[in-house]
Amino acid sequence: MNSLLTFSNWTPEQAQSLLELALKVKQQPQDYTDVLRGKNIIGYFEKPSLRTRLSFDIGVQKLGGHFIYVDTASSKLSGREDAVDMAANMSCWADGIVARVFSHTTLETFVENASVPVVNALCDKYHPCQAIADYLSMYETFGTVKGKTLAYVGDGNNVTHSLLLLGALLGCHQVVVTPEGHEVDEDILAHARSLAEQTQTTITTSNDVDAAKGADIIYADTWLSMGDDTPLEKIKARFMPYQVNSAMMKLTGASHVMHCQPAHRDLEITSELIDGEKSLLMLQAENRMHAQNAVLTTLFA
Ligand code: CP
Ligand code: NVA
Repeated sequence: MNSLLTFSNWTPEQAQSLLELALKVKQQPQDYTDVLRGKNIIGYFEKPSLRTRLSFDIGVQKLGGHFIYVDTASSKLSGREDAVDMAANMSCWADGIVARVFSHTTLETFVENASVPVVNALCDKYHPCQAIADYLSMYETFGTVKGKTLAYVGDGNNVTHSLLLLGALLGCHQVVVTPEGHEVDEDILAHARSLAEQTQTTITTSNDVDAAKGADIIYADTWLSMGDDTPLEKIKARFMPYQVNSAMMKLTGASHVMHCQPAHRDLEITSELIDGEKSLLMLQAENRMHAQNAVLTTLFA
């Protein structure tokens, strides 16, 4: 692995190794304190972040490295120069780039023009660092990912895409339930299905929440992703039947609930579930750092 933009070109074996490494990094952090010794990682953020920014900053410190945060809005960097030139300049000083961008093409440009590894910290299409933290959380909760079923309910988005790709590689059956018109990207879905064939895993899509019956985990995300300025009032009535709430947990029989956060209480998920005993939200948040440190260890060790 030279960079991590998506998991689309990974093998099931590579995905399983990363998952196992993430668990090791979490359980034996003392073995990884020199992975980034003397190395500088730039965090280039075009969109806001709480979890990703802080978990990378603190995580890089735990690996012995230094993290430099650049946010394009307050530094007024947007539109000043081409991504081609930014990537080449950043490579002059840094050992790696962690980037949260509006468009996936910016990341592709970074990879082509940077001489250091690039990690996708969320773009319009993918959120791979979230997916590896989520499957680590599932692994710790159930003792396995293989053969379990995760049902994502809501807007088909960047988080859904990364869950589909990595879940297919790790052997997790998946159900994606979205309102009509908010389905996942067809090409990414087709690619995830081709990966799922390698692990004999099923991927089901539906507009009907009944499709999530029998799932082990129900997964929610915001109905409006960053960069989407559709007024909430315009989509609320359409999405409300897809709210992850106790009735849905009862209908599906799922034992746990996940959300990548930021969560909008009592919109896509109820407060009762966020704060309840079925919630894996804080485990997912905690695991962001361990999972990302496994990615950085794979790239730099
Ligand atoms: N889940 C996640 O990426 O959170 P942030 O947007 O706060 O980084
Ligand atoms: N789908 C959300 C995820 C936030 C972590 C977004 O892109 O805003």
